[in-house]
Amino acid sequence: MRMIGKAGKAAAIAAIAALALTACGRSDTGTTSGSSTGGEAFPKGSAIGVALPQKTSENWVLAEQLFNDGLTAAGYKPDVQFANGGVSEQQNQISAMITKGDKVIIVGAIDGAQLGTQLQQAKDAGATIIAYDRLLLNTPNVDYYVAYDNFKVGELQGKALLDGMKGKKPEGPYNIELFAGSPDDANAKVFFDGAMSVLKPKIVDGTLKVLSGQTSFEQAVTQGWKAENAQKRMDTLLAGTYGTAALDGVLSPNDTIARAILTSVKAAGKPLPIVTGQDSEVESVKSIMAGEQYSTINKDTRALVEHSIVMVNDIQAGKTPEINDDKSYNNTVKVVPAYLLEPVIVTKDNVHTAYENDPVLGPITKQ
Ligand code: BGC
Repeated sequence: MRMIGKAGKAAAIAAIAALALTACGRSDTGTTSGSSTGGEAFPKGSAIGVALPQKTSENWVLAEQLFNDGLTAAGYKPDVQFANGGVSEQQNQISAMITKGDKVIIVGAIDGAQLGTQLQQAKDAGATIIAYDRLLLNTPNVDYYVAYDNFKVGELQGKALLDGMKGKKPEGPYNIELFAGSPDDANAKVFFDGAMSVLKPKIVDGTLKVLSGQTSFEQAVTQGWKAENAQKRMDTLLAGTYGTAALDGVLSPNDTIARAILTSVKAAGKPLPIVTGQDSEVESVKSIMAGEQYSTINKDTRALVEHSIVMVNDIQAGKTPEINDDKSYNNTVKVVPAYLLEPVIVTKDNVHTAYENDPVLGPITKQ
């Protein structure tokens, strides 16, 4: 993706805004970000803002508690807010964090493209901005990104879908349907692109057939990551396309949507297809052990929050935080220096060992 210099940035932002939904996310150009714009050292004991989105999956709920506990233990005043009311509530919360003088603002955006004004104000006030889990788009005012490798998540989901179907029926062709996450979440397209990097060649060579014909991201999205929206779409797909045809597999971007898809298939009285997921939600992990949902992704929230706090400590001390990726996440204005963690695929094969150190899932998945 083309890099844009400081001059004319505002005009450029406006000009590229229309492209943001399709062009954002993972960069494939290999360009680098140049110097970071991280903030100044600040006193321990300062307030740290954490702006979380809606509670669309268990990982966000857990993050709230972990940030409160972890930041307190590290000697800061945590200022953790959920924006259940939507984008304008999140904008107001970030404005309030600036007024309170929060030194670092960690943002898990509802809509990564709608916070430009607040992030500019935060930067003007001297705060450092960390995008947490979801990238912040179309803005120069994001210093770091900390997340699991979202593209890799999608790749693992695509591979799991293929493996799962092959395990049940060694030879194709396989009939599948595709679901994606919420289009306002910058991650959703990256997950889908990762999965499609694996699935598309198999669609092209005829191994996979999407009988509904709905293969684009726009056709596959699930507004707000809501279970009821996914369930409704699955009901419609089953009624319209799978009267007699078998459905072998469904790409699902996360566990909430996976369970909604399985509910829909059960209600239609059809055999359960291979369904992927993400987040290691308790009900889905139990479903995997019971042989219903095929896979999930382990993205340990504790590690992600822990790493965010490591970054805060570095910034507090005036050090540049460690990054391990300076090319993948182009937000249309800059390539954001990132620290990416490795997601892990979980199926029935490794479910009993995957969560050994997890205080909630460990006991549930013990043999
Ligand atoms: C997170 C996923 C989660 C989804 C819905 C995404 O941005 O990366 O883990 O399933 O939001 O909450």
